[in-house]
Amino acid sequence: MPSEEAFTKLFYLAAAVLFIFGLKGLTHPRTAVRGNLLGSAGMLLAIVVTLMDNRIVSFQVIIAGVVVGGLVGVLMAYRAPMTAMPQVVAIFNGFGGGASALAVGAAFEEALKGEWIEEITIQFTASAAVAGLIGALSLTGSAIAFFKLQGLMREQPVLLPGRNVINSLLALSSVGLCTWLILDPSSSLPFWSMAGVAALLGIMLVIPIGGADMPVVISLLNAYSGLAAAGHGWVLNNSVLIIAGSLVGAAGFILTVLMCRAMNRSLTNVMFAGVGAVVASEAESEDIYAGRVKSTSAEEVAMLMDGARRVVIVPGYGMAVAQAQYAVQDLSGVLESKGVEVEFGIHPVAGRMPGHMNVLLAEASIPYERLKDIDQINSAFRQTDLALIIGANDVVNPLAREDDPSIPIAGMPILNVDQARSVVIIKRSLGPGFAGIANPLFAADNSMMLFGDAKQMIIDLVVALKSS
Ligand code: TAP
Repeated sequence: MPSEEAFTKLFYLAAAVLFIFGLKGLTHPRTAVRGNLLGSAGMLLAIVVTLMDNRIVSFQVIIAGVVVGGLVGVLMAYRAPMTAMPQVVAIFNGFGGGASALAVGAAFEEALKGEWIEEITIQFTASAAVAGLIGALSLTGSAIAFFKLQGLMREQPVLLPGRNVINSLLALSSVGLCTWLILDPSSSLPFWSMAGVAALLGIMLVIPIGGADMPVVISLLNAYSGLAAAGHGWVLNNSVLIIAGSLVGAAGFILTVLMCRAMNRSLTNVMFAGVGAVVASEAESEDIYAGRVKSTSAEEVAMLMDGARRVVIVPGYGMAVAQAQYAVQDLSGVLESKGVEVEFGIHPVAGRMPGHMNVLLAEASIPYERLKDIDQINSAFRQTDLALIIGANDVVNPLAREDDPSIPIAGMPILNVDQARSVVIIKRSLGPGFAGIANPLFAADNSMMLFGDAKQMIIDLVVALKSS
């Protein structure tokens, strides 16, 4: 008869397999819901098996935690609008890292009292040090990301003088305290001091980063909180925690790299360059725009669309701000009813989180097949009668093609909307996007600006099209 421990390990293995199939499902919108369910089933299995462990001391505390945590989770999930998803992910993520740091600290205190484990091994202290350091850092870093995106603090980079020296000192002190903990695990003082220093480092590392770079930071901190959970797993000798934490860590790192690649920026540039702090001066913008910008009206654009065979819609951050996705769906329906072919050009970093545009357009029931990524759509702009840009700026800025390192988006692949016969850009002003630079597209010969809020302008367009 296999032992209870063997059964536990078997079920943990099954949970890990479910996590992996869950992640696989999440790689495509069509299988994402199934993937989510598989991952959740894996987590439920892991929790149930853990609850059957006879070393559990207090079910009351666990039940209280589940009730309070569950209530907060459900409320936040229902109440947070789609546009607030990045900060919701950030704060949940931070709580995960913080929980790992606290749980590891508690395990360390118990180990010091001689409860629960016989001997404090080097595996125990080293994993506790790593989990405590990374967990505390991801808690405060994620909290700053949350505050910035929620508008509770300035979104722009806060560039403190001497920040690199301060950060190096904080990093060195936390590594020093980790070493002390590993060499002399007779007191918990180095652990809690190290967690405190790491928490400060988390704040210092994230405040110099601009709001639009937060998705990259959140994804990186997500990877960190996964590593903290894996470290926690090593402390407790719990295989499912090690596997789940490593999967979260790897997924977070992969997403971070993909986002950096899509912007043609290095992670170091995202973390330390303070992009978004400098906004183009009026004189610089004037140089590009003076006398060349043409403004248009909804009626005029409707006439252009009426005569078009193919229209490509390029959404950006402004569509999310205006919550214009339902109006966009109406527009696409009206155009199709008039026999116009409509496609959507999606830039991988349009908006403020990975897949931001895909999520909003899916919410408005726009068929996934209509959404074309940058590689699929770029060659088709030359055969496009009209490119309609809705609240996008940096992702269509031709300056990105310049080989000039002073341009923050130099080298970033862009959607080649300027190759379409006509380009209409909906935004409220000539103001810059996240990168803070002017956009020569607005002054191009084939471009027209439709100034106004994205949702209102699309509604006006639909009315004009229906009455034409
Ligand atoms: P942005 O370049 O940030 O431009 C958005 C434009 O939307 C602004 O110029 C703004 O102009 C307009 N806007 C705002 N509210 C509007 C409203 N209510 N109605 C109409 N227009 C409105 O956006 P993008 O083109 O989507 O580019 C995304 C940027 O974020 C890139 O620089 C990218 O590198 C960065 N970023 C993205 C991610 C991810 S994962 N998505 C990660 C890191 C960084 P007005 O104020 O004139 O209206």
